[in-house]
Amino acid sequence: GASVEVDIAGLVPGEMKTVEWRGKPVWILKRSPEMMASLKDKKTDAELADPHSERNKDDLTPEYARNEYRSIKPDILVAVGICSHLGCSPGTKFKPGPQASLPDDWQGGFLCPCHGSTFDLAGRVYKNKPAPDNLQVPRHMFLGDGKIVIG
Ligand code: FES
Repeated sequence: GASVEVDIAGLVPGEMKTVEWRGKPVWILKRSPEMMASLKDKKTDAELADPHSERNKDDLTPEYARNEYRSIKPDILVAVGICSHLGCSPGTKFKPGPQASLPDDWQGGFLCPCHGSTFDLAGRVYKNKPAPDNLQVPRHMFLGDGKIVIG
């Protein structure tokens, strides 16, 4: 079918699960309090290409995810793990060590291995590299606390 049901009851803060939906990887990240706090740091807004998810929003950000967390629940990110540049799948770099290609005040997020685009922990793209858009938040809903339906 078109939708995928995912059990997230066992996810601990900081843990991410990847599932396949319509041939694409979808990430479900349970953000820790520190991860959530990093998204409230307005200093980084100026470094993001589309901090308020206004671009292409009908495709990229469902109405219920048009908030600072880009999610229904602040701690659960659901995003398609495909870079908006040329379609590579960014790797997860939650708390990397010093890396020359990352923004100075990097607070963790996702790094695309192909041309170095970076995304924050809400899938918002930094504007210093070629990817133009935030990662897509697919349509999804919760079934109680322990399950998500994607699609
Ligand atoms: Fe991700 Fe080019 S495909 S930066």
